[in-house]
Amino acid sequence: MNDVQSAPAAPPTDLFDAVPTDVSIYEVGPRDGLQNEKAVLPTDRKLEFIEGVVAAGVRRVEITSFVDPRWIPALADHNEVARAVRRTADTQYSALVPNMRGLDGASRAGMREVAVFMAASETHNRKNINKSTDEALATYRVVVDEARARGMRVRGYVSCVYGCPYEGTVPLAQVDRVAQGLLDLGVYELSLGDTIGVGTPRQIEYVLRGLLAAGIGLDRLAVHFHDTRGTALANITVALQLGVKTIDSALGGLGGCPYAPGASGNVATEDVVYMLHGMGVRTGVDLDGLVAVSAKLGGYLGRELPSKYLKAHLGHCARVGKVV
Ligand code: HMG
Ligand code: MG
Repeated sequence: MNDVQSAPAAPPTDLFDAVPTDVSIYEVGPRDGLQNEKAVLPTDRKLEFIEGVVAAGVRRVEITSFVDPRWIPALADHNEVARAVRRTADTQYSALVPNMRGLDGASRAGMREVAVFMAASETHNRKNINKSTDEALATYRVVVDEARARGMRVRGYVSCVYGCPYEGTVPLAQVDRVAQGLLDLGVYELSLGDTIGVGTPRQIEYVLRGLLAAGIGLDRLAVHFHDTRGTALANITVALQLGVKTIDSALGGLGGCPYAPGASGNVATEDVVYMLHGMGVRTGVDLDGLVAVSAKLGGYLGRELPSKYLKAHLGHCARVGKVV
């Protein structure tokens, strides 16, 4: 045997070296989840939901959307929700806004953070916000400038990062263009959306590495997976291995996008938190507290929610005769 063959094998690289010790959960259920539920949750139940996840330790919540109620009827009570929610000082409450009218409504209702949203694909922008990509960026320039002038923080969503229901594959260059465009406007964080849940782990690695190589900092990136094809947790694992520190999720796995046919719920917050805690990652969230909220929410919506952790928990409670 020559030297090379007899040399001891290099120790395996630790797959989890870059996984952060602390991850921020960004709860989108009250907005992304409820916007696509058949049953419209009454305002007081929405408040119970929001206040419940905050009581369980979630520190970032998207509570509603100041969009046209004819487009998103389930969130027509945005004013009431934003005005009535009991806020805790250490929690960030955000709302989606598509234009100046939305921003004005949100700031009048007491919001200190808003989120603007657009897709990496041209057709999805036309279907979802009735604008071309360039028109959306131009609209948001005014919205973000004004929000920041009012002392508000602005988050940005890029949808259809891994595929568009109308255009299919979306080239990385288009994702990069929209991502850089939103960052240039002054959003503090970009949430990369797998709106229709088509992404798979290698694709996540490709896109995230591509954006990082293009100079976007890890601390500016969040991931937002819909679990349409069951790949969300695998995709999140890859994002964590690359060092991503913010994960969007919806309690119970609620959700979808009414303008993305076939889209289903966001990855469930309980499932993400369970996985993170099992990996030794801190979230500050109490899983029992969280699941107590989602168990009630399923009852209010009159359907079994898709969260795997919730199902296991309810099954366990039924077996041992424990009241949920
Ligand atoms: P438009 O028709 O082009 O708007 O819609 P417009 O400016 O021409 O105004 C038309 C009418 O809408 C006017 O009323 C406006 O006052 C009213 P009229 O004179 O006809 O009575 N209007 C509004 N009303 C209430 N609130 C507003 C507002 N703006 C205008 N803010 C618009 C453009 C963007 C408003 C419309 O397309 C819209 O509301 N779209 C909402 C789409 C949406 O919410 N989609 C779901 C969220 S995106 C998502 O889920 C993806 C994400 O989760 C990430 C991922 O999963 O990848 C974020
Ligand atoms: Mg979404």
